[in-house]
Amino acid sequence: MKKLVVVFIASVFMLYFYSCTHKTVVVPKVTTPVVTPTDSTKTTDSTKTTDTTQQVEDTSVCFQRDVLPIFQGSCAIGGCHDAATKAKGYNLSTYAGITAKGIFPYHPGSSGLYTECTSGKMPKSPTPKLTSSQLAMISIWISKGAPNDTNCAVLCDTTKFTYSNGIVPIFSSYCYSCHAASSAPTQGGGFVLDNYNGVHAQVLNGKLMGDLQHSTGFHNMPLGGMKLSDCKITQVKKWIDAGAQNN
Ligand code: HEC
Repeated sequence: MKKLVVVFIASVFMLYFYSCTHKTVVVPKVTTPVVTPTDSTKTTDSTKTTDTTQQVEDTSVCFQRDVLPIFQGSCAIGGCHDAATKAKGYNLSTYAGITAKGIFPYHPGSSGLYTECTSGKMPKSPTPKLTSSQLAMISIWISKGAPNDTNCAVLCDTTKFTYSNGIVPIFSSYCYSCHAASSAPTQGGGFVLDNYNGVHAQVLNGKLMGDLQHSTGFHNMPLGGMKLSDCKITQVKKWIDAGAQNN
């Protein structure tokens, strides 16, 4: 009888354990939203590589609008993970390439492409590390199953067109990967666009708008990436038309 009881308890214990091991792969819960993806200026500490401090509104993360430009701007760079080079077999310029390996849907912590960035190993210098808000967006996107959402709402406010509210958030998301002071010499043709004077020079010579609008005879920017949304281009244009001030 005693033996039976022991066997019974042991099997209950084992069942409990068994069910546990099948439940423990839990997606870390994403905490309260603080910023929206376009608000990259609100990033309090861009050197932080964890995704716990800076969170983006869960429902607002949309792959084509928020996640793809990060991979295109910081990873799918010539000589690295672009379609031609495919360093280590990774072509990170398209959804198919990004999700082919290194992304484990629902599990950011097991997704190599994400953890290489949180650990600071990628992107390689001189490309700047991803900001905490960029990391948060990738984490949330993976946590919701890494879907290829294409029908993204336009998150852009054309009433915001000062240098600090309009230009900096757009350029930090789409241009600094190649045009920060650190990356410009090797990735951005030497053009530094992470400060007012650098951007202003490109306004004065007339190249900035032509590049953004992909006009003939200009260099299409972001190089190798999608053209910015009409709304973002309008924000830049309004800032220029109002005198391109350092405001
Ligand atoms: C993947 C890297 C990359 C990204 C991202 C990128 N650029 Fe460039 N950009 C370059 C390179 C390389 C050059 C130099 C082109 C040349 O001289 O052949 C350049 C040159 C420029 C120039 C100098 C004028 C010209 O046409 O030569 C401007 C202005 C510019 N980029 C604006 C932007 C803006 C604005 C963004 C973001 C919306 C952006 N770039 C994103 C790589 C990039």
